[in-house]
Amino acid sequence: MKRYLIMLAAVTLVSSMAWAQDGAALYKAKCAMCHGPMGEGKVGPSLQKTALNQQQVADLLTNGAAGKKAPHSKAVAGLTAAQAGEISNYVMTLKK
Ligand code: HEC
Repeated sequence: MKRYLIMLAAVTLVSSMAWAQDGAALYKAKCAMCHGPMGEGKVGPSLQKTALNQQQVADLLTNGAAGKKAPHSKAVAGLTAAQAGEISNYVMTLKK
């Protein structure tokens, strides 16, 4: 029983650490090439200056928005709602 509890604590710790890093890692893999490593903007606009809030960014990633240019006229491919939430949390940390 004691060993089980220690295992459980270890698994919980590791998975919560992974959660905190996911947003940054996903951003680097899927967004940085267009928005810059620090969100400073490249092909895509600066995210440091976006007026959108966390919920609106998550919504843009999961649903896309009519009238937006590619790639955001539709949902970002291969992104779960949970991952969109993590990325949008990370985008908020880039804001200046
Ligand atoms: C292929 C290049 C490209 C990729 C990859 C990309 N974006 Fe964009 N992004 C753009 C362009 C271009 C716009 C401007 C679209 C428009 O205004 O019509 C934009 C707009 C946005 C906006 C709206 C900014 C504002 O203030 O209105 C957000 C937020 C955003 N992107 C976040 C992301 C995130 C997060 C990712 C990664 C999942 C990502 N983008 C991936 C090119 C890209």
